[in-house]
Amino acid sequence: MLGTVVGVVGLLSVTAVAQSTDIQPSTYTVPGAFPTSLYSSYYNNPTATSAQAQPVISDPVTHEIYSFSLTDPNNIPQNDTVDPHLLPPPATSSALVTHAIAQLASIAANPVFGDNTCARCQAGLEVAKFAVLAAPEIGPDLAVAACQYFDFDSECQLTYMLNNLGGVVTQLLAFADVGGYDGQAICANFLGSCDMPLTTPLNSTEWFAKPKPDPLPTPRQPTGERLKVLHISDAHIDPRYTTGAESNCSDYLCCRPNVYSNDGPGTITVPAPRYGAYYCDSPYALITAALESIPVLAGTQETGFDWTIFTGDLVSHDPDYQLQRSYIMYTETVLYDLFKRLLGSGPVYPSLGNHDTHNEAQDAPYSLGGYLAEQFSWNYDHVSSLWEYEGWINETVANYARTHYAAYMVRRTDGLRIITLNTDFWYRANYFNYINMTNPDPYGMLRFVTDELQDAEDAGDRVWIIGHVLPGWDGTNALYNPTDLFYQIIDRYSPHVIANVFFGHSHEDELSIYYTNNGTNMSAATALTPTWVCPSITPLTNLNSGFRIYEVDSGTFDILDAHTYWADVNTFAELDNQTEYGPAYRYEYNTRETYGANITWGLNDPLNATWWHLVTEAMEAEPSLVSTFNTYEGKSSVRTQPCTGECATAKICYMRSGSASLAAQNCPSGYGSVQ
Ligand SMILES: *[C@@H]1O[C@H](CO)[C@@H](O)[C@H](O)[C@H]1NC(C)=O
Ligand SMILES: *[C@@H]1O[C@H](CO)[C@@H](O)[C@H](O)[C@H]1NC(C)=O
Ligand SMILES: *[C@@H]1O[C@H](CO)[C@@H](O)[C@H](O)[C@H]1NC(C)=O
Ligand SMILES: *[C@@H]1O[C@H](CO)[C@@H](O)[C@H](O)[C@H]1NC(C)=O
Ligand SMILES: *[C@@H]1O[C@H](CO)[C@@H](O)[C@H](O)[C@H]1NC(C)=O
Ligand SMILES: *[C@@H]1O[C@H](CO)[C@@H](O)[C@H](O)[C@H]1NC(C)=O
Ligand SMILES: *[C@@H]1O[C@H](CO)[C@@H](O)[C@H](O)[C@H]1NC(C)=O
Ligand SMILES: *[C@@H]1O[C@H](CO)[C@@H](O)[C@H](O)[C@H]1NC(C)=O
Ligand SMILES: *[C@@H]1O[C@H](CO)[C@@H](O)[C@H](O)[C@H]1NC(C)=O
Ligand SMILES: *[C@@H]1O[C@H](CO)[C@@H](O)[C@H](O)[C@H]1NC(C)=O
Repeated sequence: MLGTVVGVVGLLSVTAVAQSTDIQPSTYTVPGAFPTSLYSSYYNNPTATSAQAQPVISDPVTHEIYSFSLTDPNNIPQNDTVDPHLLPPPATSSALVTHAIAQLASIAANPVFGDNTCARCQAGLEVAKFAVLAAPEIGPDLAVAACQYFDFDSECQLTYMLNNLGGVVTQLLAFADVGGYDGQAICANFLGSCDMPLTTPLNSTEWFAKPKPDPLPTPRQPTGERLKVLHISDAHIDPRYTTGAESNCSDYLCCRPNVYSNDGPGTITVPAPRYGAYYCDSPYALITAALESIPVLAGTQETGFDWTIFTGDLVSHDPDYQLQRSYIMYTETVLYDLFKRLLGSGPVYPSLGNHDTHNEAQDAPYSLGGYLAEQFSWNYDHVSSLWEYEGWINETVANYARTHYAAYMVRRTDGLRIITLNTDFWYRANYFNYINMTNPDPYGMLRFVTDELQDAEDAGDRVWIIGHVLPGWDGTNALYNPTDLFYQIIDRYSPHVIANVFFGHSHEDELSIYYTNNGTNMSAATALTPTWVCPSITPLTNLNSGFRIYEVDSGTFDILDAHTYWADVNTFAELDNQTEYGPAYRYEYNTRETYGANITWGLNDPLNATWWHLVTEAMEAEPSLVSTFNTYEGKSSVRTQPCTGECATAKICYMRSGSASLAAQNCPSGYGSVQ
């Protein structure tokens, strides 16, 4: 109805214009001067031919007289310092968490990302990064809330609260390049939503002070004297182990009163034997049984070992939130003391494992600066002091360890240098490693080992390197960039300086070989140095308990023979309810005899990288040799599954992978562990 009326009015006015045709004149020329009478005053001379009028304008509402500077074309203002320019009010801490979670939810739901879970994840990390930069105190709450929203842990509150990992995760978010390589790796490793970014191209030429000598210096000559050296690893004493508690529990850590079988509380399906169980760490009874057996089996009760290497992990596998610094320090105190008293004379050279810190696996680079640089010094101070107290290293070396993440170098009077590493700097589970990851050495750990190796080369000394987390094997434990650089360092100083490298961590009896030229041509002629991975004392998981004794030439520090021992955890329940006898540790195998039958090798020729490469060739020709290796990998556990077909190919490949980069590039995945 209304529309119609408007239409009629419009039509009438058009008709009226059409009728007024007689308008005069048809042209009007205005005067040349500006009509100055329009305004009572001007900022300039309005009659000028060269300038536009600048009238003084007065606002009838505000009574303000607008200043010339507003319209002065020669001084156009660019920075309005007069008007209010509003910002939103600052968010409270709780509002920041709420908004951050809402943004994470929006990113998760936004179809623009399609199925690119990696881009979603990195976008989400950006939200979290800026929230914690603005308000670090919200980091833990945000982590807990994100964990609950996306359900990436069953114990979100306990895991990510400030009193557990919340502070660590907040530091990570604050410092990491979450939009770049760091963020991709975080999303890959911790959230499973990206592929791990590839190894960053490395040119290590300038890393080294001097080129590799060519020809190599004349090798040190064997003396024919054989030293006895003990290698123990992964003790994992559980001082909370409870005989008779559930040993087949559904969640870590079994053999404790607070865990249950799948049937729930009330019934105990498999009571924990006094000496240990396959899903449990070592009770005191197992630790002392192993340490009491070692000198008897080695024949060193009177002499002690020439030395012992301990490749880390003292502490039990509790969930992080059940741990605290004093539990770590208690365990360090107990085990180093037992090593000292039960293994006899001869120094023990320990390296720290990922469990020998708090939070588990966490060690921060000194380059974080300020108080954050020192956040793990309580531990480096404690272990260094204990090692000095036990008489294994002197004050100078202890002071060095204090300021080098508990890593150190000992120059023995016999011409061997022991260089230890705190391998948390390349362990995937250390959150601090995801800050500036394209730098292969933010910790300076590889700088330290390189400088020590250069010193050793200059002095004509040989070196053993000792650490915990293996850099290579199946590539699942260590990060690409640091282990890629480590490989180049081993190449540079092998075989004339580095005689052997030792690790633990996997709890399994494994080995890998370093070659020249980044392993581009793996042959007996290019093999440089072997890495010995020691079986664990703890049976966790599904493994027997074991250790190894080496016979070492006192001139070359090459290994001439290796003897591995084990105890059968499957029989431990039979030892309960009596005190007449404990478990038996027994000889498992002789490395040279087991793998060397078809290799032409002198009786006093070392089990060096050349020999080990020939072993891998023998394995290619004779797959049953891989089955033997597989059995020993699990310390002859009844629970070890057979390894044939692709598994056998994979194991040989892992043996030839000294860096995570090589393992990932070359080998089938999924066969690294027998657990
Ligand atoms: C704008 O003015 C403010 C206040 O005088 C001053 O602090 C700021 O530096 C100026 N900005 C620019 C871009 O000149
Ligand atoms: C590596 O760096 C050195 C020295 O900086 C240079 O001479 C060499 O060409 C580089 N190598 C490669 C493969 O880029
Ligand atoms: C341990 O518990 C699992 C799950 O309930 C069960 O399958 C397995 O047979 C049990 N093992 C033993 C030795 O009782
Ligand atoms: C990370 O890299 C940045 C930029 O190079 C540097 O300022 C910072 O100190 C580095 N942080 C660490 C922990 O290395
Ligand atoms: C401490 O031990 C190192 C061997 O690693 C030795 O070079 C140094 O002279 C010793 N220092 C003292 C004060 O005995
Ligand atoms: C690999 O090294 C061996 C021994 O030095 C040599 O015989 C062979 O030709 C090399 N292969 C390649 C592809 O370089
Ligand atoms: C390993 O020992 C054999 C026999 O003594 C020797 O010929 C070979 O050069 C050694 N290999 C390395 C990498 O040192
Ligand atoms: C040890 O004693 C407990 C409690 O009496 C019993 O349940 C268990 O079967 C006994 N174990 C052995 C190996 O005799
Ligand atoms: C040695 O070689 C022979 C003949 O190829 C083979 O039958 C035997 O299994 C091999 N033994 C070992 C330990 O590799
Ligand atoms: C060594 O090989 C690995 C695997 O191919 C590669 O990722 C890495 O970049 C190589 N490192 C160097 C220094 O060439």
